[in-house]
Amino acid sequence: MPKISVGRDDEDREEHGLKGTGIIGKHLVGEKEEAHKANSIHFDLARPHVMGVFGKRGTGKSYSLGVLAEEIQNTDISQNLSTILIDPMGIYWSMKRPNDRAAGALEEWDLTPEAFDAKVYIPEGKVRNFEEREMPYDDTFTLDPSELSAQEWSMAFNLEANSEAGILLERVISKLDESRDNYRIEDILNLMDRFDFPEEVKNRLENRFMNAQDWGIFGEKSTLDKLTEREELSIVDVSVFGEMGSGWSIRSLVVALLAKKVLRQRMTARRIEEIDEMEGLSENEMPIVWMLIDEAHEFLPRDGETAASHPLLRWVKIGREPGVSLALATQQPYKLHPDALSQADIILSHRLTAKQDIDALGNIMHTYMRHDIDHYIDALPDRVGTGLILDDNSERIYPLQVRPRKSWHAGGTPDAFED
Ligand SMILES: Nc1ncnc2c1ncn2[C@@H]1O[C@H](COP(=O)(O)OP(=O)(O)OP(=O)(O)O)[C@@H](O)[C@H]1O
Ligand SMILES: [Mg+2]
Repeated sequence: MPKISVGRDDEDREEHGLKGTGIIGKHLVGEKEEAHKANSIHFDLARPHVMGVFGKRGTGKSYSLGVLAEEIQNTDISQNLSTILIDPMGIYWSMKRPNDRAAGALEEWDLTPEAFDAKVYIPEGKVRNFEEREMPYDDTFTLDPSELSAQEWSMAFNLEANSEAGILLERVISKLDESRDNYRIEDILNLMDRFDFPEEVKNRLENRFMNAQDWGIFGEKSTLDKLTEREELSIVDVSVFGEMGSGWSIRSLVVALLAKKVLRQRMTARRIEEIDEMEGLSENEMPIVWMLIDEAHEFLPRDGETAASHPLLRWVKIGREPGVSLALATQQPYKLHPDALSQADIILSHRLTAKQDIDALGNIMHTYMRHDIDHYIDALPDRVGTGLILDDNSERIYPLQVRPRKSWHAGGTPDAFED
């Protein structure tokens, strides 16, 4: 039986074999409870991909995203990779601990529990919040307010761009952008005061900016560069902003600036790498960046737009050339932006039941497998961590069992039984 490797084309397979892949799980052969684990499913990590991770509640999406992060850390090309994991629920800090409770299950896979050298980043202004609640973190990050466009501000503030406040915002920001490279929120407030707009409009906008200062994400300059270090796994813990709509707007701003910055840096690096390649040098100028986003429909929704929508769509559409990869996890593929769905070249789908989500899954892949999706989902055994891998490259679909995590998964389902 040939080895299964998804996301890898024939040319790479011939030249590199399984170098630069990770193992996500094992192929399931047979149906329902009769299904048994067969070959390992390797997963290409060397080339840029857009990956979707789907499944209804509690089926293993966050867990699988963690498996992917572990594989990127453990692969033989990890020195050329860098991973950013966007963690809206604050569950990935536990990757620093070995998954001792699954030692038995791991042994069946010839694996052992392992702690990962992940770095948990939190917004600088929220340090006290984390410390009071004794939540672990390693470092902080800040964003530079002058890197935000008027449009991104208005999305973060939930303002109509053509409302009076929206227009004032646009004028203030473009004036500042013209005259200086760098400014702070106080500079925005000072300048706003000098514009001839109704006091009431000014006050409204002023309040929004004063709130923004409390988000704890803005600093003198952006420190996002440290999130793309070679071989590092950076967990961006944005759980602190709460479940309200405004919490998601703030998270989207963080993702927007991060996605823009990384893409820009990779585009520059790519040019240098190409020159190096011509001269026979092979070390990457900058690592290939994987961004793993949990609850991705909140950042790149089908309906409406967030500050992160445009930057993430750029990754999806042009990310192949500069070398950036995206993995988007969501309960409902139907709620994800259709361009992200149509550009996805690898899908890992755990069980889905809603018709519109199954249809969305069917629509992504070409007609060759559309009709089979229902059948494949029905045939999955009723166990956590089972799912389907759809590989656009080989035009194949594989039922699989995702492997157990080497590191601790903190997103488990709590129960109220007594010990
Ligand atoms: N591959 C696996 N092997 C063993 N257990 C797993 C696997 N995948 C998931 N689980 C178990 O299922 C539980 C739920 O998984 P997970 O937290 O990933 O769900 P989810 O799909 O992200 O759910 P939600 O939509 O609520 O975020 C995990 O805590 C874990 O115990
Ligand atoms: Mg989850």
